[in-house]
Amino acid sequence: MKEIIEVELKTRKVDFSKCETELLAVGQFSDAKGLDKVSGELNSKLDGAIERLIKLGDFKGKEGTNAIVYGNGKIGAKRVLLVGLGERKKATLDTIRKAAANAANKAVAMEIEAISLALHKVFGGRFDMSAMGRAMGEGTYFGSYRYDEFVTESEDGRLSSLGVEVIDSDSAKTKKLNKGVTRGAVIGRAQSYARTLTNRPANVMNPVKLAAAAKELARGYERLSCTVFDEKQLAAKGMGGVLAVGSGSQNKPRFIVLKYSPASKAASRLPTVGLVGKAITFDSGGISIKPAANMEQMKLDKTGGIAVLGVMKAVAELGLPVNVYGIIPAAENLPSGTSYRPGDIITTFSGKTVEVQNTDAEGRMILCDGLHYAVKQNCEFIIDIATLTGSCRIALGTYMAGLMGNDERLIKQLRRAAEDSGEKVWPMPSGDEYAEEMKSKMADLKNTGSKWGGACTAAAFLRQFVGDTKWAHLDIAGMEVFEKATEFSAEGSSGFGVRLLATYLMNLSGK
Ligand code: BES
Ligand code: MN
Ligand code: ZN
Repeated sequence: MKEIIEVELKTRKVDFSKCETELLAVGQFSDAKGLDKVSGELNSKLDGAIERLIKLGDFKGKEGTNAIVYGNGKIGAKRVLLVGLGERKKATLDTIRKAAANAANKAVAMEIEAISLALHKVFGGRFDMSAMGRAMGEGTYFGSYRYDEFVTESEDGRLSSLGVEVIDSDSAKTKKLNKGVTRGAVIGRAQSYARTLTNRPANVMNPVKLAAAAKELARGYERLSCTVFDEKQLAAKGMGGVLAVGSGSQNKPRFIVLKYSPASKAASRLPTVGLVGKAITFDSGGISIKPAANMEQMKLDKTGGIAVLGVMKAVAELGLPVNVYGIIPAAENLPSGTSYRPGDIITTFSGKTVEVQNTDAEGRMILCDGLHYAVKQNCEFIIDIATLTGSCRIALGTYMAGLMGNDERLIKQLRRAAEDSGEKVWPMPSGDEYAEEMKSKMADLKNTGSKWGGACTAAAFLRQFVGDTKWAHLDIAGMEVFEKATEFSAEGSSGFGVRLLATYLMNLSGK
């Protein structure tokens, strides 16, 4: 199998016009009056070529667009890439992240092996230097990512690695940028890792393989450990939800637990966060089978679980001062003679019983065991992440994840992390009205509600398993995939949730 494109990131102090590079990326706002200092300097050495391009209207600075001006020997760069940033007042850190992604995406498309970024310059002191460095680091990973492990033909000289340097002419600024770039590289790498595992199809990535990947990840970091429960241990523990969903497939379910313990001696006084991610390696719907159209997309139903893996990788590399459990119930939802059925009553890990009305509402059936496990580990905060409901995608589209929970502070912190990471969320309810719909006459709960508000009733179901623990739920259905390539990303898995949750944990630990 082919390795994915490797990104090598660094920072360098160098004069912008002297920087010798294949491609130098600079930012341009759509409502800028003229050129900023850096572009102005390049422009005059290029005998006004940037100005001419803009005057002709060939580049308007719109977000997601770019234009190339070729060097003339008077500047160090062979090419200057103008990257559109949109309106100045609307710009956020995510604008810088996307601009870096746009430049890296372009470099891969043009098979350019080394690029230099000065995208932060037009922002002046608007954002913290290190935060801008981090955004550029994350963005370059995001934009250069391609998934072609299984493409054996048409290698077409595809880049094996992309060298990226963030440059500034001031050494103090370069130093600050570097601090962020280093962190951005950690998070970017973790997100690309998650995208690759998620993009792997269900014949390659099943619960057993996912557990092996988690074990391998943990082997790489001293402070990370991994325990996996197989189907016999699941039965012994009474994890009836995971077992039921996994019962239809030859690929047996697994319950994966990663634990990150910080080096700090004060570890026992630091908060413990439980991350619970849904990992359905393929969701056919089971006996309540889905329609054939687009069913292949359901290999991405493991996105939440793999996002948790990616976050654990980032946390271990960053050495954050916080205790974290990564809890990943994994199963394949297939119809067969051994499948669980509509009408079945399942005793979950918590002891609560659930009447199955629809085997396609399987996510909540495995998450409830994961949530109860997190409660039993005495997690102070629990956050679950799952491609849980088609309803959420209908409600919010593909721009924001649904955010539910039982603690306003935790919800606020996640909204803040969404702003910082560019992975957006929108608050949705999951209170008593919705919980009422999930009551069963035959059991404690049933696994579907009425026709309406499916994202909210699903969350209300999950809420029953966390007791008084502070909890939040991210319904990321709709966020897991780019159906088509964009200016910022290749098609396929988005790795959504890695940046969001890693940022939440960084903020929580004050790093
Ligand atoms: N994995 C799906 C939800 C999903 C749908 C994710 C589309 C991404 C894109 C989930 O397991 C599911 O099938 N949910 C059902 C629940 C229903 C049966 C109550 C749904 O949303 O239709
Ligand atoms: Mn389903
Ligand atoms: Zn599912």
